[in-house]
Amino acid sequence: MAASSVVSEPVVKAGEAAGSAAAFGTNRLLLLWSTVIGKKIVMAVTGVIMVAFVIAHMLGNLKIFAGPKEINTYSRFLREVGMPELGYGDALWIVRLVLITAVTLHIIAAVTLTRVSWQARPIGYRERKDLETSFAARWMRWGGVILAVFIVFHILHFTLGMVGFQPGQFRELHVYSNVVAGFSVWPVSAFYILAMLALFSHLDHGIWSMLQTLGWSTARNQATLRLASRLIAGVVFAGFVSVPVAVLAGWIQ
Ligand code: HEM
Repeated sequence: MAASSVVSEPVVKAGEAAGSAAAFGTNRLLLLWSTVIGKKIVMAVTGVIMVAFVIAHMLGNLKIFAGPKEINTYSRFLREVGMPELGYGDALWIVRLVLITAVTLHIIAAVTLTRVSWQARPIGYRERKDLETSFAARWMRWGGVILAVFIVFHILHFTLGMVGFQPGQFRELHVYSNVVAGFSVWPVSAFYILAMLALFSHLDHGIWSMLQTLGWSTARNQATLRLASRLIAGVVFAGFVSVPVAVLAGWIQ
């Protein structure tokens, strides 16, 4: 009896210590979130997750140029990955949940930071540098709004087939024929191309800001990082836009 109480006491203390360490960690995270730099870090980290996703998605989309079998098999693979340990579509749901969390935190941080910058804005006097910064910030906000509208439309379009198709035209897992039918409607293709322009400008400025927030930019490497951000944004833009352009031009049908 005595032995068990001797053994159990440190275990309880270790549990309490773990609990208070977790509470301490949570408090520190909340404290960080309450600061401007904390929200910028959240924007940067969620930005990294979304940039990784768009690059992977753009590369996956290029499989359409290899033919219907390749892209349709790829779509099935995305649902079967991790089986049998995971169920059909589970891995895809994990990715969706990570993305939904990242997008939500990114938007909440952006809206809060925008409010802070509006409250701090001097009235009646502004230097030229401030004008440039606020122009870039305004562009980022509008680009972000266009992208948010685009993502909702895109999921209703190519994932659910609820908009942009004739009845019975959309078939799950038949990505090739869905994409060809979807982009044959030119206003839909035009909207995608416009949204990809917004994505280009958002990535161009966003990757650069992210590198600064994460402390990777120095006086010496600034020009290189600026160029690298533009290059990544340009490659992502070209990769995505090549698909609607190829359908409209009749290269894939
Ligand atoms: C021309 C550009 C694009 C094309 C052709 C395209 C194509 C597609 C297709 C065909 C699907 C369904 C895949 C399947 O069911 O297996 C899909 C899903 C998705 N796309 Fe895109 N996409 C484009 C751009 C984008 C961009 C820029 C984003 C994000 C910023 C994005 C986010 C998503 C997401 C989140 C899904 C998964 C939705 C879900 O299953 O929950 N896409 N895309």
